[in-house]
Formats: sequence, structure tokens, C-alpha cells
Amino acid sequence: MKISLPSDSKMHSKEFTFGVATASFQIEGAADSRLPCIWDTFCATPDKIRDGSDGKQACEHVALWKDDVELIESLGVDAYRLSISWGRVINQDGSLNQEGVSFYTNLMDNLIARGIKVYATLYHWDLPQHIEDQGGWLNRKTAYLFQDYADKITQALGDRVHSYATLNEPFCSSYLGYEIGIHAPGLATKAYGRKSAHHLLLAHGLAMQVIQKNCPNALNGIVLNFTPCYPYSDKPADIKASQIADDYFNQWYIKPIMNGKYPEIINDFDDGDKPDIEPGDMDIISQPIDFLGINFYTRAVYQACSENQFEQIDMKDAPKTDIGWEIYPAAFTDLLTSLHNTYTLPPIYITENGAAMDDKIVDDAVNDLDRLEYYQAHLNAVNDAIEQGVKIDGYFAWSLMDNFEWAEGYLKRFGIVYVDYQTQKRTIKHSGLAYRDFISQRAE
Ligand code: FCB
Repeated sequence: MKISLPSDSKMHSKEFTFGVATASFQIEGAADSRLPCIWDTFCATPDKIRDGSDGKQACEHVALWKDDVELIESLGVDAYRLSISWGRVINQDGSLNQEGVSFYTNLMDNLIARGIKVYATLYHWDLPQHIEDQGGWLNRKTAYLFQDYADKITQALGDRVHSYATLNEPFCSSYLGYEIGIHAPGLATKAYGRKSAHHLLLAHGLAMQVIQKNCPNALNGIVLNFTPCYPYSDKPADIKASQIADDYFNQWYIKPIMNGKYPEIINDFDDGDKPDIEPGDMDIISQPIDFLGINFYTRAVYQACSENQFEQIDMKDAPKTDIGWEIYPAAFTDLLTSLHNTYTLPPIYITENGAAMDDKIVDDAVNDLDRLEYYQAHLNAVNDAIEQGVKIDGYFAWSLMDNFEWAEGYLKRFGIVYVDYQTQKRTIKHSGLAYRDFISQRAE
């Protein structure tokens, strides 16, 4: 089975970037050569990770990076999206860790030599633990520490990086990490979600200032995740519930960046639950970005509920991936067109999209037709959005290879490359081969 798009698709153009994505904590291993981070602590806390695993070895990418670069090259992609581990490149006293910086400069130089563009995210959730010990993202000071890290690392990496993203999915850091506690640092207080989110967004804005100064030629922006919210029925109360959920989970993160304000629902919050906004913050947060990264996996369906205003409904009979996320590609097109209609957006990159499937390796092959179908349907959905006038310049498959899937440990496989964690052998899955073939045909 192949991946294909209509012959007149703009995604066939060489101007459109195709890539694969990973994140530092999920693949690097080599925990001893960096500072401990909140995910090390979270993994060491009983019952937080489904298989009791951690990121100490992961895909041993720090040791195997040269092989991994060859693997990436063999897929024929234009770009590789990775994240920098803050605690690998910055020492506890704030100075640069040269050994850590060299790891990334060597990796990047090698990618560039093979014609692969580097898309680097500065924060994919691995906050150094010593900063968490001072309050983490609940402490406004963390935003300034992030700015300092961004300043130093972008000077060190400079033009090697084609595109810098400040943060990956601040929703996950703040809501999952500080409001409901299923991600590190595992705090679960309603007010913490909004307070940490504000400091994350402030950190994004402060970092943008120094990145634009240090690397004016790079494409600089942020990566947000969206889970579009649908009403369970046509009843006005359900429609209203889905709108409130959308403001709470999705618009909360994009509106401050694009329009310099939080959604109106902020006025309904108790004073104690509101973020601590200081004069000038919203201007810092809403400065221009060169691109918007969008991560999409699934949708969510809501009905009205008096207690919490909205309640998510499990779509029992709907097709789902192995992680339980509904497969609903039409929501991807809806999302892209509705963001385009709501905001004045810079060019969009799909910075993550992909599926966990119950892969079986047989005779050195993984016949993951289910994942391939997921990719086909979602690439079609992106193409549909482009046809409807949305400017989308790139697409990254999540993920290059199976890796540490946060609270699910190693139980869920998102790679287009299979990883045997005992031997660290990588095997390109059928979906990866189809992605490679699709990309190479486009080049002809
Ligand atoms: C996203 C994360 C990424 C990965 C995928 C499945 O929310 O950015 O690290 O875990 O989900």
C-alpha cells in the first residue's frame, strides 16, 4: 500500500517541507551527562508511568546519533525536528555546558551536510529539576531563566538551525503537568494550570525577543497542540459546552499569542484561579512569530454538565488508535480552516501528526497498514485545508522512531521506525517505507 495525494496537490512542490520529529527526553537516554529534569523525578515516583519505565536509556540516541542521522537520510526527508534538552546544554549556574552543546552541534552539522534542515524546539517538557525546586512554571522567574537559556543556546547553535520553536505544547506542560498532574511535575491544582500557562507563554515571548535578535534569518515561532472540540448533540447546551472546552483547552494558548488576550472565559474564573498578569505581559506574548507549529492527533466530543460546564464523552464505537485516541481526520481540516478564519496567521507547519498502533515485528518487518492509513487520511486532510486557502508549508510525522511515550512509558509505539529496546535495533516500518516513497516521488 502506498501514500499518494492528488497530482495537482501543492504538497508535491519542493517548497513544501516533509520531515520527521522527535524530542530529547523521549529518545536521548544518557541521563548521566545532563542535569536531572522533572521527568526523571516523575518517572522515579511510583505509579506515574504505566510500565514503570524512565528515560535513562530510551533510544540511546546520544550514543547512536550517527546511525540515526543515516536512518533519517535514508527516509529522504527534507527536515528533522528535534528538541534541545535544557539541562544538557546549561549548567546549574546558568553557564553553557560545552559538552552538551557539542552533542547538538555535531548532530546538526551532520544533518546539514546531508541536506537535512534542522527544526529545533527549545522546550519539549524537560524542565531542569533544580528550577522546578524553585517553583518551576509557577514561578515567574522561570520565564526569565528560559529567556537566558534561549539567548545562550541560539548564540551557540546560530545558523545551523533553520527554524526555532520556543515551546512544544504549553497546554501539556501546564494543564497535564500542573492542573491534573498526569505529567511531570505531577501537581494537580486548578489554579496552577492557568498560572503556569501564563508563565510558559511569557517565556515564549521573552525567548522570541532574543531568538529574533540572535537568529534573524531563522524561522522562529512556537508549537501548539489542538484537540478540536465537538458538541455531542445539536442541543444549544452541548454546543455551548464544546465552545467553553475549546476556549479552555485550545484557544487559551493561541489567542494570547495572536491577539494579545485570553479568551473571555477568563472573566468567569474565581480571582484565585486567574493567572498573574503583569503590565506589558500580553505585549511580550503577542509579538509576531514567523511560523505557527500545529500538532494534531485527534478530536474530543463534549456535552453539557452543570458541575464543570463540560464533560468529555467517549465515542465508544469510533475507530481509535492504540492509545485510545479517536481517528477523525475531518477534524484536522476543520481545525486548520477555522484557525485560518479566526486569526491572522503566519505560515503553518504541521509539526506533529501520527498514530500509536499495536505493532508486531515479524521477519524483520512491521506491516503497519493501520498507521499508513492514518497518515494517508491526515495528509489528505492537510491537502484539503490547503485547497481551502490555508497556508501550510510543511508536515512532520510523529515520530521518527518508537520512543518513551511519557506516562505510557514504552507501551505505545508512535514511530515510523520500530525500535527493539533490548538491542536498539531500528527497523523501518511499512508506513515509514511508504512515507519515504511518497517523498521521493515528489522530488521527481
Ligand atoms: C505530543 C507530544 C509528543 C508525543 C505525541 C504523541 O503531545 O508533543 O512528545 O508524545 O504527543
